[in-house]
Amino acid sequence: MSGEVSMIGSVILALFLAGYLGQQYLPPPKPRVIGLDLGTTFCSVGVFHPGSGEVEVLADEEGRKSIPSAVSFTTTAVLAGHDAVDLASTNPQNTVYDAKRFIGKLFDPELLEQESARYPFKVINNNGSAEFLISTNQTFTVSPEFIGSRLLLKMRKMAEKQLGVPIQKAVISVPAEFDERQRNYTVKAANLAGLEVLRVINEPTAAAMAYGLHKVDVSNVLVVDLGGGTLDVSLLNKQGGMFFTRAMAGNSKLGGQDFSQRLLQYTTERVRQEFGVPPTLKEDIHRLRQSVEAAKLNLTLQPSVTISVQLLLQTHGSSGSPEGSVPTPVLFQAVIHRELFEELNEDLFKKILAPVETVLAEGRLEKEEVDEIVLVGGSTRIPRIRRLIAEYFGKEPNTSVDPDLAVVTGVALQAGIMGGSWPLQVSAIEIPNRNLRKTNFT
Ligand SMILES: *[C@@H]1O[C@H](CO)[C@@H](O)[C@H](O)[C@H]1NC(C)=O
Ligand SMILES: *[C@@H]1O[C@H](CO)[C@@H](O)[C@H](O)[C@H]1NC(C)=O
Ligand SMILES: *[C@@H]1O[C@H](CO)[C@@H](O)[C@H](O)[C@H]1NC(C)=O
Ligand SMILES: *[C@@H]1O[C@H](CO)[C@@H](O)[C@H](O)[C@H]1NC(C)=O
Ligand SMILES: *[C@@H]1O[C@H](CO)[C@@H](O)[C@H](O)[C@H]1NC(C)=O
Repeated sequence: MSGEVSMIGSVILALFLAGYLGQQYLPPPKPRVIGLDLGTTFCSVGVFHPGSGEVEVLADEEGRKSIPSAVSFTTTAVLAGHDAVDLASTNPQNTVYDAKRFIGKLFDPELLEQESARYPFKVINNNGSAEFLISTNQTFTVSPEFIGSRLLLKMRKMAEKQLGVPIQKAVISVPAEFDERQRNYTVKAANLAGLEVLRVINEPTAAAMAYGLHKVDVSNVLVVDLGGGTLDVSLLNKQGGMFFTRAMAGNSKLGGQDFSQRLLQYTTERVRQEFGVPPTLKEDIHRLRQSVEAAKLNLTLQPSVTISVQLLLQTHGSSGSPEGSVPTPVLFQAVIHRELFEELNEDLFKKILAPVETVLAEGRLEKEEVDEIVLVGGSTRIPRIRRLIAEYFGKEPNTSVDPDLAVVTGVALQAGIMGGSWPLQVSAIEIPNRNLRKTNFT
């Protein structure tokens, strides 16, 4: 009797072993769960490859790893991502962006009205929820979760095309400050895109995972996320292998756009000094803004850049025209050194430290007790900002992962875990914190 049992046991063990060993010689299975970062300005999709144990952030046909979070409606189509942005200038009232700011959120009517004044599209109040009014050859409203779903659908299709398998499951990230309703509506957006959401994880936790901090012995992790328009600082604490958000603070009006704006003001003044008048034509201001933006990006890598813009200035009387003012084409050129860019923005850069100090105070931690600092968001590439943070903490921040892709990288790792991908060790990732409030500086 006991011999029979042990024989059955051996057979089972042998089958199990054969299966286990066989697994190593089969082609690696395709990922079936995708990781989604539905950002305010950009979205990305990533997968964990079970065979190699690597995360891949998927690119579109043109090799771009992020798509702009914009959706445009025409009489014949609903376009998402770059195609939508291409229409933004010709179809501004029907091109919706920033929908994440509205998803699942209940607004006071006055606040919603203030918010909508910032956009070229129409935001209307449906019993406290925001909706967007679209007018093509018919007029209708769409919800923020519908906008989200079109972006998620686009990314799902990108993943299916690349992987050659149908995808029905996802893990998605949300800001740590999202409440249950905002999380539910984000899930609803994924459901509308035909995706079942296996887990929702906080963006700072995802970023920490991108650096493998779920696998190493750390207690306190500070995540600084500085994007185009907002700063979010989170203090994570690891307890029993799980991340817990101890404190959050931020500045909803500080980001890369502000740094570009300072450079734009400076160059505008230089144009006025050189030619006697500032640029006034909309196209000129637009061109100057674009070159300033490019210069800002280049200054991250180079000590100086040359701005060179063709402008059509309304100079006075030089050609004796009866109006006394004719458009004169000029070439504006200026060399911008990194030091100048830093001087122009020093006060703004310093503002980054206020929410950092707040989360430390609220988390009752000394800065020396922070084990790792993780930088997220394109603006954290700016060398002066990295230096400021490194000097404050007396240690280097973690910067090896592309700050624009840190969140999606972590979400893809979580998707790999949820997909049961061997050989990843299963690790539960975060403990929800329902009582947390975010301190906002503006
Ligand atoms: C809107 O225009 C499209 C393409 O021109 C047409 O297919 C559609 O039927 C029109 N819809 C309405 C409500 O007129
Ligand atoms: C509006 O919202 C309130 C509270 O959330 C709810 O009680 C009411 O039924 C809603 N009205 C409509 C028309 O949806
Ligand atoms: C969110 O969804 C869950 C599960 O569907 C539900 O139990 C909960 O009441 C929802 N919460 C809010 C605030 O909508
Ligand atoms: C920035 O760098 C790119 C490539 O390195 C170059 O093509 C572009 O002209 C540069 N822009 C400015 C404003 O220097
Ligand atoms: C970044 O994170 C890793 C953990 O994966 C750690 O070993 C490393 O020392 C960290 N710090 C820096 C400055 O890279």
